[in-house]
Amino acid sequence: MSAATKKATIVGGGVIGGGWVARFLLNGWDVSIFDPDPQAKRKVGEVLANARRSLPSLYDKAMPTEGKLTFHDTMAEAVAGAIWIQESVPERLDLKHKIHRQIQNHAPADAILGSSTSGFKPSELQDGALRPEQIVVAHPFNPVYLLPLVEFVPSAATPAEVTQRASDLLVSVGMKPLVVRKEIDAHIADRLLEAVWREGLWLIKDGICTTEELDDSIRYGFGLRWAQMGLFETYRIAGGEAGMKHFMAQFGPALEWPWTKLMDVPEFTDELVDLIANQSDTQSGHMSIRELEQLRDDNLVGIMRALKKSGSGAGGTINTHEATLPNPAPVDLPITVHRQVPQSWTDYNGHMNEANYLEASAQATDRFMEMIGCDAAYIAAGNSYFTVENHVRFLDEVHEGDPLIITTQVLQAEGKKMHLFHRLSGADGKLAATVETLLLHMDLNVRGTSLPSDEVARKLRDFADGHAALPIPEGAGRYVGQK
Ligand SMILES: NC(=O)c1ccc[n+]([C@@H]2O[C@H](COP(=O)([O-])OP(=O)(O)OC[C@H]3O[C@@H](n4cnc5c(N)ncnc54)[C@H](O)[C@@H]3O)[C@@H](O)[C@H]2O)c1
Repeated sequence: MSAATKKATIVGGGVIGGGWVARFLLNGWDVSIFDPDPQAKRKVGEVLANARRSLPSLYDKAMPTEGKLTFHDTMAEAVAGAIWIQESVPERLDLKHKIHRQIQNHAPADAILGSSTSGFKPSELQDGALRPEQIVVAHPFNPVYLLPLVEFVPSAATPAEVTQRASDLLVSVGMKPLVVRKEIDAHIADRLLEAVWREGLWLIKDGICTTEELDDSIRYGFGLRWAQMGLFETYRIAGGEAGMKHFMAQFGPALEWPWTKLMDVPEFTDELVDLIANQSDTQSGHMSIRELEQLRDDNLVGIMRALKKSGSGAGGTINTHEATLPNPAPVDLPITVHRQVPQSWTDYNGHMNEANYLEASAQATDRFMEMIGCDAAYIAAGNSYFTVENHVRFLDEVHEGDPLIITTQVLQAEGKKMHLFHRLSGADGKLAATVETLLLHMDLNVRGTSLPSDEVARKLRDFADGHAALPIPEGAGRYVGQK
């Protein structure tokens, strides 16, 4: 482990443990695993494969180099030097107590010991522990590598310093810790989910709808609202201009009507279990679990990338995390983009769609503008560059998951004009495309061209002077149809 590399230990490498492995590993942490199941390596490997094809797609920058992944036969070996230990063994209190004791016998005393438990309170987990103050609930959501939320539940025995340090570490791996104010069985989100599940089971048992119809009632409607505004912000809008008080006055009394069966759980007879399982087979049996996972991940990435534009909900978390990822280091020509090709950029031909070559080069232009001081503050002050012409040459295919690196050469920098040449290379550094782009400096207040500030002009000139000695790139100045 290098001095700068952080180490996490994952105890229990199932559905959730595997997701934690991916979350830490792809954020550059070394990860050690303790799971006696002989299938653990295969299972973690499958979760990792899904994570590698989806998580980097959320970002417009390269993620850190993956850390080192190791499997261990003894707990002592697994937890040595860890600063975060995440327990994700089956949901049984006696088992969790046993494992926590084993962990605490060997782990550094200042490591954070998070439990993925969906239901137990931290005080229950801490009961009889060697160092109660070390154990907290860090309840994630599946897939842990994509969904940012972690319900972080401290107890009265948890020092405030531990909560702060744990929250900071979770943010550093792109997560959104929600610190739960008071411990309660099943925390916040699972209480909501259980309420919906209980009501859903009644609706199916009573023959009101099938599993598919119930899912449709969520995903075609309020599920889309929930993903970006949650419950109360959407209800605020539902109240119209009169607002939340009006909404509550209008719909609150309905809660007292005898609609709900929430307090009542249907008996899990064989008949009910078969009814649900058969309907679920009819609904989704045509796809394997792996195929369903990949469909889920692709949809999540698409939704979260849309949220990234507005910074709403999970999109804000991605933006915050992306800002901490390093910018590419300049070489002879500045690297203006270094990222992975997301699945959503590929088309029916199985390679990157032509529009996304332009999207990537627009990202390169934006980054170059930042480098010369045309940054958010400069733009907010009413100045920017607008693209007036682009010429793209498509030279090679790039595929989902390929690295994409763009270098930017200044061909001309005079007055209002900035003339750039982007080279896009994919796997093995092979040139995949060039984009020649002409931009004009604008005064955003009058929406007309103008001269850049002295500072921006100077920085641009520095690049232009540095690049003046370089040969004119092959392919510069071409137009459509040229031989
Ligand atoms: N599945 C979910 O959607 C979900 C979501 C959030 C939290 N959780 C919580 O995460 C925890 C794990 O759930 P899961 O769904 O990943 O279960 P799982 O059955 O998929 O995985 C449990 C893993 O623990 C391993 N294990 C069993 N005994 C062990 C031991 N003594 N030492 C080390 N490893 C051991 C098993 O081999 C298995 O790989 C539970 O507490 C659960 O409540 C689950």
